[in-house]
Amino acid sequence: MTVANATAVHLSDLRLDRGGRTILGGIDLAVPTGSITAVLGPSGCGKSTLLAALTGELQPAGGSVEIFGQPVPQRSRDLLEMRKSIGVLLQGNGLLTDLSVADNVALPLRTHTRLAAPLIDRIVEFKLNAVGLRAAANAYPRELSGGMARRVALARALALDPPLMLYDEPLTGLDPIASGVIMSLIQRLNHTLGLTSIVVSHHVHETLPIADQVLVIANGGLVFSGTPAELETSSDPLVRQFLRGEPDGPIAFDAAQRTEAA
Ligand SMILES: Nc1ncnc2c1ncn2[C@@H]1O[C@H](COP(=O)(O)OP(=O)(O)O)[C@@H](O)[C@H]1O
Ligand SMILES: [Mg+2]
Repeated sequence: MTVANATAVHLSDLRLDRGGRTILGGIDLAVPTGSITAVLGPSGCGKSTLLAALTGELQPAGGSVEIFGQPVPQRSRDLLEMRKSIGVLLQGNGLLTDLSVADNVALPLRTHTRLAAPLIDRIVEFKLNAVGLRAAANAYPRELSGGMARRVALARALALDPPLMLYDEPLTGLDPIASGVIMSLIQRLNHTLGLTSIVVSHHVHETLPIADQVLVIANGGLVFSGTPAELETSSDPLVRQFLRGEPDGPIAFDAAQRTEAA
């Protein structure tokens, strides 16, 4: 590993605007390569907006975003190239319903590489095995449980071997058992494949156990950055309010309502 690559993601005084409004400002962050970072915060605080800046989907209104030591490119061709190094698991799984599980996972390989078909088949088998679903290769998305579908989407996000994984609310719609499976899978894949992961979630208690570093976003900025243990003992009123899930306090209740409207 080169020194430049010891930091997977570096944000410096980042400001993000949407719809003419500043959503996040003054964000400074370093995500060490190999780590799992949890980004927590109430609905509507700007977690997905932050991920959009990492994938280059949203241009910063100020400050900078670097991925593995490189600024996120503005030219679309360079951006497409950079995006291959980022695996994204979005809230909806985005599986194509008329393709089998194996074909869904093969899709990024068929689109972005010139690998021969037998090699693609082997890679798909390997990725499905990594999420514990080799036996489901010929199933169709409608035949899967919510947890299985999420794992297929995860296998597909891993298809191109991206060194950086972004997860946006990976537990949405899952029961507690499936949630536990997904979280331990995120952790296991991070460590066995040598990835760097950023997990955006409002599920504090499920997310903290796998995190090396935790950020809490509220009121337009980072209100906490530290280890899970430091978070638990934080006396910051914003952090306490968020951890207790209380509507009244220093975090404006309005943050959640804005999302419902969006
Ligand atoms: N495309 C958009 N245009 C304008 N405002 C947006 C857009 N996407 C999100 N927002 C607003 O940005 C704020 C943060 O949204 P988001 O990042 O989705 O929050 P979170 O992921 O933390 O729930 C919300 O107030 C939301 O309404
Ligand atoms: Mg979101």
